[in-house]
Amino acid sequence: MRLQHKIAIVTGAGRGMGRAFALRLAEEGARVGILDLREEDAAATVALLPNPEQHLALACNVADSAAINAAFAHVHATLGGLHVVVNNAGTGTGPNDGTAELYAAMAKRHAELAAGGPAVTFVDQTLHMQDEGWRAVMGVNLDGAFWGCRAAIRLMAQDGHGGSLINISSSSAQSGEGPVHYVTSKAALIGLTRGLAREVAARGIRVNTVAPGPTDTPLMRGIPQEWISSLEKAIPLGRLGRPDEVAAAVAFLASDESSFITGSTLTVNGGSYFL
Ligand SMILES: NC(=O)c1ccc[n+]([C@@H]2O[C@H](COP(=O)([O-])OP(=O)(O)OC[C@H]3O[C@@H](n4cnc5c(N)ncnc54)[C@H](O)[C@@H]3O)[C@@H](O)[C@H]2O)c1
Repeated sequence: MRLQHKIAIVTGAGRGMGRAFALRLAEEGARVGILDLREEDAAATVALLPNPEQHLALACNVADSAAINAAFAHVHATLGGLHVVVNNAGTGTGPNDGTAELYAAMAKRHAELAAGGPAVTFVDQTLHMQDEGWRAVMGVNLDGAFWGCRAAIRLMAQDGHGGSLINISSSSAQSGEGPVHYVTSKAALIGLTRGLAREVAARGIRVNTVAPGPTDTPLMRGIPQEWISSLEKAIPLGRLGRPDEVAAAVAFLASDESSFITGSTLTVNGGSYFL
């Protein structure tokens, strides 16, 4: 119960890792504001938590700074404060971002190799990516985390106490594997964490990054199987991560047990990359 009397927000907590983070924080005693695009998904997570009546489910698109400000203020007012924020909401695709062309080219190249011939198909995404596709992924993954940090810092500054902010990056930031908008956004989160950590340390607000490796969630299930298999083979511990394993790292950084850690990146990736 390391988070008793703490109020937390987890974005994108209607499924996947965000749901596991919310569950773990609640199991440690926190009351949690669960934000997701659809309120019913957020509510489904709340129903799984201990003492569901103590938590709050809200619809919130993290790419919209006004929506973030309103949702954070609502959690703060309703649950009675804010101490921990996990900026988890993320996406690997956006409209017209070349994903369809990329997957088609990957399948073609795979077939060329399977037929024993040379692989002559280029695997391009950037060639096909429209501005809106780039903006959509940056808007959720990077802007969304910044809006979340900013809203939290404003509330914590007003309350005059510290807190713990955790940005969910990815091992893609280290490896470069994945769509270029996704990789860029996840690498940028490490810079955001480091800059903010120095800026708000005097207020007692700590800011850290968790960088999961490939983890078994609905997001992964949208990726072609051959890509997942090759990712899995490259993991020294020999398997995908589980959401609860990443949640253990998040709970540590949320709690006072990590009281002298700020600006860091904690990798949870089965040994694939070190930082
Ligand atoms: N699964 C992996 O292998 C993996 C690896 C490294 C990092 N990550 C990162 O971990 C985080 C969680 O990933 P996941 O695998 O659980 O994904 P997921 O797709 O299973 O869940 C993401 C959740 O975020 C929500 N969401 C998406 N856009 C949103 C928005 N604009 N506003 C509010 N909510 C939004 C979705 O509705 C969904 O509930 C993401 O930031 C992802 O990039 C995932």
